Amino acid sequence: MRITRRALTAVVGAALLLVASACSAAEDDPPASTVEVFTWWAEGGEKAGLDALVARFTAGCPGQTFENGVVAGGAGINAKQVLAGRLQQGDPPDLFQVHAGAELLDHIDAGQVADLSADFDTWGLRAALPDGLIQTLTVNGRVWSVPAGVHRANVVWANQRVLAEAGIRAAPATVAEFVADLETLRRGGMESPLALGRDWTQLMLLEAVLISALGPEEFTGLFTGDTRWDGSEVTGAIEDYARILAYSNTDRNSLDWPQAQRLLADGKAGYQLMGDWAAADLTDGFGTFAFPGNGAAFQWLADSFALTSAAANPEGARCWLKTVASPEGQREFNARKGSIPARTDTATTGFSDYQIRAAADWRSGVPVPSCAHGSACSQPWQNAANAAVAAFSQSKDRVSLQDALAAAAKQFVRQQ
Ligand code: GAL
Repeated sequence: MRITRRALTAVVGAALLLVASACSAAEDDPPASTVEVFTWWAEGGEKAGLDALVARFTAGCPGQTFENGVVAGGAGINAKQVLAGRLQQGDPPDLFQVHAGAELLDHIDAGQVADLSADFDTWGLRAALPDGLIQTLTVNGRVWSVPAGVHRANVVWANQRVLAEAGIRAAPATVAEFVADLETLRRGGMESPLALGRDWTQLMLLEAVLISALGPEEFTGLFTGDTRWDGSEVTGAIEDYARILAYSNTDRNSLDWPQAQRLLADGKAGYQLMGDWAAADLTDGFGTFAFPGNGAAFQWLADSFALTSAAANPEGARCWLKTVASPEGQREFNARKGSIPARTDTATTGFSDYQIRAAADWRSGVPVPSCAHGSACSQPWQNAANAAVAAFSQSKDRVSLQDALAAAAKQFVRQQ
């Protein structure tokens, strides 16, 4: 007999309830129902953001108890595998974290997530979210997840002390200037001036280089079938990417983003390209700029929550989603997470200067989706792209990288 994680929790919970009801006078209280929320937010600003939602959920959803289905690993690199196994085995959490956009497509096709269109109306989300985001969330005419906030991916974080000591005073405006600054740091004795981590963080870097080489529109076309992956512009971008990669730490394939961030924070590197969840941890002493050559492109991703179609506690799960959807839930979550609210009507009390600037850039910039964070490409496509960059990190074989990326696009592109 297979004992699922949920079944085990239920058995233990029931036993505890029996003991409690035997001992307690409060026998009229309804039994607490658990809501399992599956995320990869285990530490730092990510956990702080989740904790803020939990506090509001606990206060606003009486009789419901949050159950933390967390699996650590940046960008969900481990969590998504565990989730896929659980969904396949019929052992789903009530809710799971997912990026708005193409990342959810296979789950929708497989009937694993519930239609939230009616809830969107009830919670007034159609008026509160930007039209473009609602369009992204809509597949087959229905809405399948509730967005918690919007992050920007194409941000370079700079250690200001390191740069000042090297005499670097301005943010580079082009890839060539960025390479020159990396070279200045290396000549000054810093072996690996660019802090970098494993596969998905490398994919983020490659995407940023591609945005500079192709511009927002053609870059977006890489994921809709309108731009060729085997063309000369992508070849040139891969050459730039290889040039930049050469300035990064050689143990990159074994580091997650917080460990790479430590290299930057400790002054062992001058720069790190990382989404603005880093804002929660890098405060004083760090500057930011959009990746050189990206112009006004705001490479966005939106963390959202989907309700599984076989959830054990759909009512409690909907109360979690309502919490996430509320203006105050969005304010408290995003203030700690480094992101900006998905809702356009949320107060920005408690937001950092970085976040206020990001909110303005989101309003004025050119939105560009991300494959590393699921707004541009489906999960299998993202897996293939991650594998391609991780292999390249070892082999440095530019032709194989371009071939692998072109093959992934051919296999996975579809009308989204
Ligand atoms: C992203 C996610 C962010 C943050 C980041 C690093 O995919 O959208 O919220 O968690 O991964 O783990």
